Amino acid sequence: MLDDAPTSHPRLLAWIDEVAALTTPDRIVWCDGSESEWTGITDALVDSGALVRLDPAKKPNSFWARTDPGDVARVEESTYICSVDEADAGPTNNWMAPAEMKSTMTELYRGCMKGRTMYVVPFCMGPLDAPTPMFGVELTDSPYVVASMRIMTRMGTEVLAALGDEKDFVPALHSVGAPLEPGQEDAAWPCNETKYISHFPETREIWSFGSGYGGNSLLGKKCYALRIASVAARDEGWLAEHMLIMKLTSPEGQVRYIAGAFPSACGKTNLAMLQPTLPGWKVETVGDDIAWMRFGEDGRLWATNPEFGLFGVAPGTDFHTNPNAMRTLARGNSVFTNVALTDDGDIWWEGMGTPPAHLTDWKNHDWTPDSENPSSHPNSRFCTPIEQCPILADEYHDPRGVPIDAILFGGRRKTTIPLVAEARDWVHGVYLGATLSSETTAAAVGQVGVVRRDPMAMLPFIGYHAGDYFQHWIDMAKGASGDAAKLPKVFYVNWFRRGDQGQFLWPGFGENSRVLKWIVERLDGKGEAIETPVGHVPTPGALDVTGLDISDEDLAAVLRVDRDEWLAEIPQVTEWFTRFGDKLPAVLWAELDALRARLADA
Ligand code: GDP
Ligand code: PGA
Ligand code: MN
Ligand code: MN
Repeated sequence: MLDDAPTSHPRLLAWIDEVAALTTPDRIVWCDGSESEWTGITDALVDSGALVRLDPAKKPNSFWARTDPGDVARVEESTYICSVDEADAGPTNNWMAPAEMKSTMTELYRGCMKGRTMYVVPFCMGPLDAPTPMFGVELTDSPYVVASMRIMTRMGTEVLAALGDEKDFVPALHSVGAPLEPGQEDAAWPCNETKYISHFPETREIWSFGSGYGGNSLLGKKCYALRIASVAARDEGWLAEHMLIMKLTSPEGQVRYIAGAFPSACGKTNLAMLQPTLPGWKVETVGDDIAWMRFGEDGRLWATNPEFGLFGVAPGTDFHTNPNAMRTLARGNSVFTNVALTDDGDIWWEGMGTPPAHLTDWKNHDWTPDSENPSSHPNSRFCTPIEQCPILADEYHDPRGVPIDAILFGGRRKTTIPLVAEARDWVHGVYLGATLSSETTAAAVGQVGVVRRDPMAMLPFIGYHAGDYFQHWIDMAKGASGDAAKLPKVFYVNWFRRGDQGQFLWPGFGENSRVLKWIVERLDGKGEAIETPVGHVPTPGALDVTGLDISDEDLAAVLRVDRDEWLAEIPQVTEWFTRFGDKLPAVLWAELDALRARLADA
């Protein structure tokens, strides 16, 4: 089947041969990433009923997709780090020995592409003109995945050419796990109840089975650019992080670059595309989900976005909250998954103003404003080319990336965490990241709204022992040519604190520009702050709330550091740190002790 292969890369050809022999697809298609290929694939998906074409007058070249109701989010329970030594996976990951996982999954893969096409998707994370382009090849039996990979990654002929005959790549095997017998009608969304999302960090391989959804199946994203890349980053002295990257320009024209790590569905995409309410401030987008950060020769930490598209949470997105996302989507060329369809061929989701009188919901049922359930799944997503973003920064295209001035850690917490606090120094910043907590969201299968520790927003994505990961973060200080002043300043933010009636105390979205302004003032050595036990918090007068409708009480409440609430965190953090045993850097225990002492004195 490989006679007409458009490459002679021996390792690639041997691997494809081996996978084809195991999975027995009816045919193999090499993806070139062309417009005509996209048209062919989306046309075929429309013909089969898997996609619905939206009205081109409203969303040109865009499609509505619905998944199986059992395949709607990342499956952390079925995600494995298969390091040779169990200890290397650490206490936060599921682990299975590589040989055992491979034999289990080999049996699942046997004949699993029967009746289907196996697509070969050569892709590159980050620009092709990077000093070391980061190649991958995904083999998948899902045309939906191929269409999505074309949006989310640089893929196709150019990548294959750059890969040449011997460059290294990450082999990423994916199957929905639903072979078709002759004459058998295909499901609208084929998948399998058995799911495995497996990573082999030593051999840099990804094996995914059973799910067609997002991070489970678009293997360049979470699997490669976070889990596998985090291992490479540990070995090579850089960072692969779950972070947005933004360019922020002040009214005076001063430019700052900010990275922010918030857990899934906690505000990265919105912050990355923010439209400031403060006059004269400008935000431009570099990335909304993943940052690769390396030290430059200048001793500063430079960040790039390895992705090519946006895979954003749909509900809550509209012209009031995220106008730049809406403008990006209006340009078309997008896939919308598990949102609602309007009767006139457009999409709708909760948060997009007044609901129409009738919709088709994400389960393909009639929906009216009286319906009991939301029209869109809470983890429904838009998948759209980042180059369509009207505020994309020019630096997005630069393989060097941007020098980061500040790192924000944040989560979704109803209580305790103030709107913003500045870390005392780098190690305290690492402590804030390592103890980051957030209420769980619909981005992963499981209970929603439970507070859990999510270190650096990387809990589901660290490809090795989290204790080693914390040490790696601490060691990054050495990369700054011994000059701590060159390191980004660390801040902790919480847009989600609630008042007594359960209402958000802070309006969020574009108003977060007021917090960004204070952060920039702190970088400049200005900006008034009070030193609290948990870090430097703005004095109520230090935040620019000009024109903002917020009461003094709410402002004080959203900034408050409550001693009792923080004392209640201490046993939770102690328990959390204890999980890492000897691997927990001693300086983090010292930070906890110091916090306890400061709270006692407060
Ligand atoms: P990401 O998954 O981290 O990229 O998070 P998103 O930016 O997609 O946001 C996830 C959800 O949180 C969406 O429903 C947003 O509307 C909502 N959200 C984002 N930023 C804010 C904010 O500042 N305040 C509030 N209340 N909600 C927000
Ligand atoms: P996001 O990314 O929710 O952080 O946008 C997708 C995911 O983490 O599953
Ligand atoms: Mn994410
Ligand atoms: Mn996002």
